[in-house]
Amino acid sequence: MNTQCDFLVIGSGIAGLCFAIQAAKSGSVILITKKNDTESNTNYAQGGIACVLERGDSFNSHIKDTLTTGKGLSNEESVRILVEEGPDRIKDLIDWGVNFSKSDATSNPYHLHLGKEGGHSENRIVHAHDLTGKEVEETLLKRAHSIKNITMLEHHSAIDLITDYHLSHTLQPDTSCHGAYVLDNITKIIFSIQSKITCLATGGAGKVYLHTTNPDIATGDGFAIAYRAGAVISNMEFIQFHPTTLFHEKANSFLISEALRGHGAILRDVNGREFMDKYHPLKSLAPRDTVARAIDNEMKISGEPCVFLDIRHADPSDTREHFPNIYANCINFGIDITKDMIPVVPAAHYICGGIKVDTVGRSSIQNLYACGEVSCTGVHGANRLASNSLLEALVFAKRASDHSAECIRRISTVEPSAIPAWDDTGTIDNEEWILLSHNFKEIQSVMWDYVGIVRSNVRLGRAARRIQLLEKEIDNFYKRTKVTAKLLELRNLVTTAKLIVSSAAQRKESRGLHYTTDYPEQNDRYWKKDTILSRLKHR
Ligand code: FAD
Ligand code: SIN
Repeated sequence: MNTQCDFLVIGSGIAGLCFAIQAAKSGSVILITKKNDTESNTNYAQGGIACVLERGDSFNSHIKDTLTTGKGLSNEESVRILVEEGPDRIKDLIDWGVNFSKSDATSNPYHLHLGKEGGHSENRIVHAHDLTGKEVEETLLKRAHSIKNITMLEHHSAIDLITDYHLSHTLQPDTSCHGAYVLDNITKIIFSIQSKITCLATGGAGKVYLHTTNPDIATGDGFAIAYRAGAVISNMEFIQFHPTTLFHEKANSFLISEALRGHGAILRDVNGREFMDKYHPLKSLAPRDTVARAIDNEMKISGEPCVFLDIRHADPSDTREHFPNIYANCINFGIDITKDMIPVVPAAHYICGGIKVDTVGRSSIQNLYACGEVSCTGVHGANRLASNSLLEALVFAKRASDHSAECIRRISTVEPSAIPAWDDTGTIDNEEWILLSHNFKEIQSVMWDYVGIVRSNVRLGRAARRIQLLEKEIDNFYKRTKVTAKLLELRNLVTTAKLIVSSAAQRKESRGLHYTTDYPEQNDRYWKKDTILSRLKHR
């Protein structure tokens, strides 16, 4: 079966939905998503979206904060675009119906309540209480569902991109993308969706680690899919560990938003002593890499399994009003944040690297765009400034859809009959699945133990050997077995782990989110550059 459209969008988070909504003005869109349409990192975003709206704030200040956090690796042009186009994108969201938290302030155009987060010099975080992602996701989905040109297919997993390789069996650097092979997770049928433009918006890879703030969908599919197709992948070593997730065996690394620290919460050790003053002048509101490493260090010194976040000094009704989600979740675990200190630990949260794209979202493969967390626009460099991720997705999804809409008229499609049907001859049903199911845990444990907040040559070497072995086993199994959604995720998880480990091993310095005890200093002479991985030799 071969289905056709102008734009194939893979992923229904903020990036995929924004791309689809804009692209639908220029052609037919099929948007596929592997679970329910709401299931995405976007849906769980708490803190908000960074944007210069306040009279006393300035583009230059937001640019400076982003560049400082990025530790010399951010692309200045991309950062300028991000910051300067931000206000228009927030206006789009408001026009589409997103209901952000308001205040009496007349110093910004929409009377928004603007929060503060680590690394920001000003209050510039637009938010909907501490449920920003849910509000944005629901509004975008409502809009996308109302547009006739968009067909949304839930429970459909992208398996692999269709490229020239499938037409000619040679993998060339100037290869073009013609769509994707897709598994319908309900009927188990695999079919091809042929498209003029394909946009990968598959989000992040938190599930590569044992402890993560990310939901189950974040298995790194887009990185692995693009890598297999020959795309250039960049800066995968920069994994952001969020400093504060709830320490409780049943809490599943529930995020305690940085906005709470923006609201005055202070990090303390088990004896109630503030410790961040030892590490950074901004104390509890220092950039995340510093805070996560400081917590890791304090836990190692004390031997305690967590540190604590303290907001007891704030007005309780104010805390409850601003953070209803965090308050309610903590109450479920027996913690009243207005009266008790909150036990917290770091967990994997965000990946700064990804599919290398230019300022209009183009990857190194023709007609393949990427936006959102799966892409590497150069904005974040070696570390992401808080709440710049949703903004990046908004700004660059719009640019990608505008650019691809311009190009689409010039793209000639190949004959549908030239696209080979999915071939699963010789594969069997997965009775042996049980043998592989524990590989998920193995990958996650290896990555957590050896490729975490603090790295070393020995640890990375160990991780590389283990991941290589696991990849071989999974690949053999994949070749003999009928694909399922779970098997696809496992295959993508191990490939993404491999990309992270090899990028981390390449970078022989410490910078931003990549800290190794073997090269503890930043080395601008040799390493003020991106790490690059590709199966093809690009010019
Ligand atoms: P996602 O929102 O993750 O969407 C990816 C989509 O792709 C999903 O629909 C998924 O099902 C689909 N998909 C994946 N693989 C496949 C496949 N093979 N086939 C089909 N579909 C597939 N950032 C901020 O800026 N501010 C915040 O306050 C903030 N808070 C956060 C809080 C939490 C708990 C988390 C986890 C992240 C937070 N972030 C925040 C980061 C931010 O939410 C994400 O970076 C952003 O939402 C990513 O959007 P996206 O559209 O790229 O991906
Ligand atoms: C948070 O609310 O702390 C998350 C913000 C982000 O990831 O940018």
